[in-house]
Amino acid sequence: MQTQVFASNPVLRRYWYAVTRSGDVVPGPLAVTVLGEPLVLWRTADGVLTAARDRCPHREAPLSLGQVVESGIQCPYHGWTFDASGACVRIPSAPPERALPPAARLTTVHATERYGLAWVSLDAPVADIPAMAYDGETRFRRINTPVEVWQVSATRMADNFMDIAHLPWVHAGTIGRAQSTCVPPLILEQLDDTFYGYRYTIDVNNPDAAKVTSRTQAPVVTRWMTTGFALPFTTRSTIRFATGLEHILLLLTTPIDDVTSYFTFVVWRNDDFSVPADEVVAFDRRIGLEDKTMLERIPGVLPLDVTATASVQADRPSLAWRRRFAALLQGRG
Ligand code: FES
Ligand SMILES: [Fe+2]
Repeated sequence: MQTQVFASNPVLRRYWYAVTRSGDVVPGPLAVTVLGEPLVLWRTADGVLTAARDRCPHREAPLSLGQVVESGIQCPYHGWTFDASGACVRIPSAPPERALPPAARLTTVHATERYGLAWVSLDAPVADIPAMAYDGETRFRRINTPVEVWQVSATRMADNFMDIAHLPWVHAGTIGRAQSTCVPPLILEQLDDTFYGYRYTIDVNNPDAAKVTSRTQAPVVTRWMTTGFALPFTTRSTIRFATGLEHILLLLTTPIDDVTSYFTFVVWRNDDFSVPADEVVAFDRRIGLEDKTMLERIPGVLPLDVTATASVQADRPSLAWRRRFAALLQGRG
């Protein structure tokens, strides 16, 4: 099987990736890995999210095994302490009047918080975190879900999230029994400044477990949808029901390495906020588990050369992602 390595491509180091929920850092340290790079996250005494390489410049111990102290993060090996800029502020073995060695610097990376999540960019970011139209609007609420680790290449996840031909098969246990298996022609377009994708209307199965989300009793419900991507690995699906209810899903995939990824999704909804958030997203989480179960059975990286796998018209959206992603890796993004 053809395996291509993408996670070491420096181009990808210049995008933002979601790594954990904001509330899960408190105060840290927390170890995460992005594009093969072990990182440590923590909050300063002022609450500012900070991220750095998880390797002490003294003898390379993982700082994520240390502790957050008033002045910064303290290494578990010899107690050196680093502030949020990466500067060493304390070396317990050296007399305090002694100047600190210049190489005693921790390499920090870009960190920020948005949509209830902590994001990192390993090098100077070339693009902003994808903009979500309804974020902050009072008629919409935002619902976060846990960040999971999938034993799946981010390439296969991005491909899957652009694909609707799998719904009647992979999602037969949830939404997938109502629609025709035949996918109508999908026209790709720039959906807004951020997302490239397609608009479509689809009938989905509306079992009891789905009614909390759809707020409709009918056995089958029509969704007016868009699905689009923002490179490298972000996908957004917008769903509008006949009742005017809108349900927006932001699907976030972060490569831990070539074949392992973080996955989380965020929902924005203009419902009456009466149903607890966890119940609203429970059905979406079941759908996500169906994707995970399928994808974890497919080893390796998706071949980025589109001629390496067979495709049909229904695959046009995922092929569009694959072509643009391959171009990005080649510096033609
Ligand atoms: S390895 Fe971190 S203080 Fe020595
Ligand atoms: Fe799916």
